[in-house]
Amino acid sequence: MSTFSLTRRRTLGLLGAAAITPGLGAWAKAASRPTLRIQPARAELLKGFVTDAMVSTLPDAPPPVLRLKQGQPFTARVENATPDYTTMHWHGLRLPNAMDGVPYLTQFPIGQGEAFDYTFTPPDAGTYWYHPHCMTMDQMARGLTGILVVEEAEPPGFDRDIALNLRDFRLGGDGQFIDLWTARGAARAGTFGTVMTTNWATEPVEEVPAGGLVRLRVAATDTARIYKLFLPGAQGLVIALDGHPLAVPLPLPVSDAEALLLAPGQRADLAIAMPPTEGATVDLMTHAPGKPRLMARLLATGGTLKRELTELKPLAPNDIPEPELDKARVEELVFGWSPEGNLPNDGLCGTMGYTFWSINRLPWPGDAAGAGPLVDLRQGESVILRLRNESPNDHPIHLHGLAFKVIRSNRREVSSHWTDTALLLEKEVLDIAFVADNPGDWAFHCHVIEHQKTGLAGYIRIS
Ligand code: C2O
Ligand code: CU
Ligand code: CU
Repeated sequence: MSTFSLTRRRTLGLLGAAAITPGLGAWAKAASRPTLRIQPARAELLKGFVTDAMVSTLPDAPPPVLRLKQGQPFTARVENATPDYTTMHWHGLRLPNAMDGVPYLTQFPIGQGEAFDYTFTPPDAGTYWYHPHCMTMDQMARGLTGILVVEEAEPPGFDRDIALNLRDFRLGGDGQFIDLWTARGAARAGTFGTVMTTNWATEPVEEVPAGGLVRLRVAATDTARIYKLFLPGAQGLVIALDGHPLAVPLPLPVSDAEALLLAPGQRADLAIAMPPTEGATVDLMTHAPGKPRLMARLLATGGTLKRELTELKPLAPNDIPEPELDKARVEELVFGWSPEGNLPNDGLCGTMGYTFWSINRLPWPGDAAGAGPLVDLRQGESVILRLRNESPNDHPIHLHGLAFKVIRSNRREVSSHWTDTALLLEKEVLDIAFVADNPGDWAFHCHVIEHQKTGLAGYIRIS
């Protein structure tokens, strides 16, 4: 084991921050250089039982919500205080390739006692998230998924801003982890958790001002579950999806029938107008087998603030180049079963020992050293990727380092907001388009982690 001292580093960090006089600039700087120490954790996920063998960046709480400012430099030191290798990935951010946190493709895995400084300036405001990209099936399933917020330069005018991290845990009746995945699940829709949580709690209640405007930043960070969200009787709008503002906000889904699908990796920003009466509630529900589940409740408190949705400033669009569709290069990618047996494994980032899936008939284990790129693009060219799903399962397909638009489906109307993770339905053909403006090797995979790790992964090269 290497001898670098985590304790000393942490103490220095704290002293450093305390020594700064609280001028605004100084605080902003101190706050934007967090240390994330990946470590074993425990928490009471099921009432009355403490779950051991969790992984977080805090000993007894979920990874914190990181708040960055659009266009301002950010550095996170990621320390590894676990015996396993790891890396950290900043999902949805358009950043330099070397900061993307993908083992072998962009960096060497971080060993026990080692650290890595991730430095980047987020160009886009919105709701993003962070998670490891090595030992993913283990570390993510045990808790290591956090929300990352990039604040707009100009605040849109909410009274409260609340991040909700939706995810399952696979626990037995004693609150301890059971098998994190099954081969049966990995070969189908993924293995679902037994306990559905929001910010590591079941049915949490958050007090918010009556008559106030609340921004809910909902992130689906589960390894397998597609949430089907609705808020019965609530007043509000869907203002952003997958980080990026909607040119025209969508009506809030208020019934099971109009539920908003949020697949692993996806996010939704909801603007909620709280009812004026103290004690009134707004419930975030998800459709689930059996009956709808309560994921989180907002409880109106105090005298009404009498705010109206129309008082909100529309979110400014992020500055992303529009692809030229008539000149775009078209590449087809086929998502299907894997033709054969075993995947090569480097040993450092974990293997599930099976191959079930492939892209263009090629299986690639998401966290390992891979073969060549799926597609080789020239920097600046417009591209259409035709995603053809030959399998009977849905796949949230995620591209690192870029934002793309879904422009066409053979099965449904599509919404053309910018995104980084598109849900590819069973037997669907989906065209996505973007400008290949960010050079590097960009991971491209299904965000059902069991699919990613058993073949449904690859990367795209831009040079
Ligand atoms: Cu959310 Cu390749 O990751
Ligand atoms: Cu990502
Ligand atoms: Cu998949």
